[in-house]
Amino acid sequence: MNTLDASLNAADAALRTLFAPHRGSRPCPTVAEAGTPELADEDKALAGALMRVNHVGEVCAQALSNAQALDARLGTGNPQEREQLARHFEAASAEETDHLAWTSARLDELGARPSLLNPLWYAGAFGIGLAAGALGRRASLGFVVEPERQVEAHLAGHMDRLPAHDHASRAIVAQMKDDEARHARDAQHAGAMELPPPVKGLMRLAAKVMTTVAHRI
Ligand SMILES: [Fe+2]
Ligand SMILES: [Fe+2]
Repeated sequence: MNTLDASLNAADAALRTLFAPHRGSRPCPTVAEAGTPELADEDKALAGALMRVNHVGEVCAQALSNAQALDARLGTGNPQEREQLARHFEAASAEETDHLAWTSARLDELGARPSLLNPLWYAGAFGIGLAAGALGRRASLGFVVEPERQVEAHLAGHMDRLPAHDHASRAIVAQMKDDEARHARDAQHAGAMELPPPVKGLMRLAAKVMTTVAHRI
């Protein structure tokens, strides 16, 4: 794939993430026996805000993998290894599309909207992904492990905060939490390096800004 093709692919992925409807490859997780009772307005508002934050997280996950795939394709070194790495990131992005579809559908059901700042979140995460990709394969994979771990912990926190009877949101968050833990393990097995503590701290800070703002906007 040449530079123009790879760049067009990345632009297409960005537009699809931000503006196209998403279709997951797996059905949306549900709790078989329960169904979700009609929620009170304040529970709906809380669940909507938390699912908006999770949706933004998935927009950022798409941006990171798209940028890392682009870097792998445009970088230097063994072309076969670069292509293999690019495909690793594309496969990751395809699996994260399920999360994007599920959180987006749940936002609709709750009468909540996605973050108005999604293009900004996407651009920021894409920039981080490009910088990570430029550091080489092991560092780039390290930039997968760390956010996946942070997101997993964050989703565990949402299981405490979501209304107890919002079974529909809870089923989605529980499945996402399991998936993110597996994504971190996969990237680790693929050879990810452990990122230095200051880098992890910066990523935590960026995530804190994003989650705080996206809760409202
Ligand atoms: Fe995800
Ligand atoms: Fe993930």
